[in-house]
Amino acid sequence: MRRRRVLVLVHETLVPPESIEHLSDQEADEFRTEFDVISSLRELGHDVRPLGIGDSLTELRNEITGWKPHVCFNLLEEFGGIVTYDQHVVAFLELMRQPYTGCNPRGMMLSRDKVLSKQILSYHRIPTPQFAVFRRGRKPHIPRRLRYPLFVKSATEDASFGIAQASVVDDEARLRERIDFIHEQTRSDALVEEFIDGRELYMGLLGNDRIMTFPPWELHFGSMAETSIGIATRKVKWDRSYQERHGIVTDPAEDLPEGVPALRMRPDGSVFVLEANCNPNLEEYEDYGRAALYAGIEYPQLLERIMSLGMSYRADWRA
Ligand SMILES: Nc1ncnc2c1ncn2[C@@H]1O[C@H](COP(=O)(O)OP(=O)(O)OP(=O)(O)O)[C@@H](O)[C@H]1O
Ligand SMILES: [Mg+2]
Repeated sequence: MRRRRVLVLVHETLVPPESIEHLSDQEADEFRTEFDVISSLRELGHDVRPLGIGDSLTELRNEITGWKPHVCFNLLEEFGGIVTYDQHVVAFLELMRQPYTGCNPRGMMLSRDKVLSKQILSYHRIPTPQFAVFRRGRKPHIPRRLRYPLFVKSATEDASFGIAQASVVDDEARLRERIDFIHEQTRSDALVEEFIDGRELYMGLLGNDRIMTFPPWELHFGSMAETSIGIATRKVKWDRSYQERHGIVTDPAEDLPEGVPALRMRPDGSVFVLEANCNPNLEEYEDYGRAALYAGIEYPQLLERIMSLGMSYRADWRA
């Protein structure tokens, strides 16, 4: 394996320490992805420099022109506190003719825009829940065609921001309340979808032109399902003690009907694509890393493969 100069782009507050042994789980969780990636790349023998990025590109430009990294390993999820600006940093890398890992700006833009993504899915006749959009700053006009129960979320946010049990609504009064809540709390448009009651499945994908799919992964809601609706709320995703209390785990999806590829599945076996996320969480023991391992790709090899895909990606400047 060739030794590479790897510039790892991280949020300015998430440059990890050399070791996390002295930290509690909770403290280490903050920058576990950054730590896992950086330490594994170093163990692989690469020359690794983390670069914390806040609201300036000056240092990034200096590192690119001065140190000439073979590849930028992109772990950024925002720029200047604005989550939708992550794609512009990647666009800057393209303009600098700098190879980088992960999704290109176009993919990032599409995955950020759930409404546009759903329109594309519908065009290709890929089932996705019926929906309506309620723009922020406009008085919501509720179309009659919507059937309850409905699911209310942000049209652009991720990490389940704004998602809780109250996201599932049974009548118009609750629907209006939750649309207001999404507008206020997430400062974005509200996407209202038909609620799909069923199993929650994730598919990990890897590749540039030829795409590899990892084995389907499933989120099990444990004892939470007895008292609540089985959806991946903010708490389900991020609250360790809540997960432990309810036995919420993810695992390889078992007993799928033949040929089922993805995502939210009704008891009758019909599958709906909720969304496609661009760059997955690359923590070693998160879903993506675990699914890759299940497919026979160990974590260091996964990172290595992500890097070589970044280096062989045919950006327009190579043409
Ligand atoms: N139409 C729907 N029917 C049923 N459940 C839904 C629906 N839309 C969203 N959910 C639930 O809410 C969760 C979060 O929704 P979604 O994936 O759209 O948000 P996100 O914030 O982008 O999540 P991520 O962090 O995975 O990118 C889903 O994992 C699922 O449990
Ligand atoms: Mg998402």
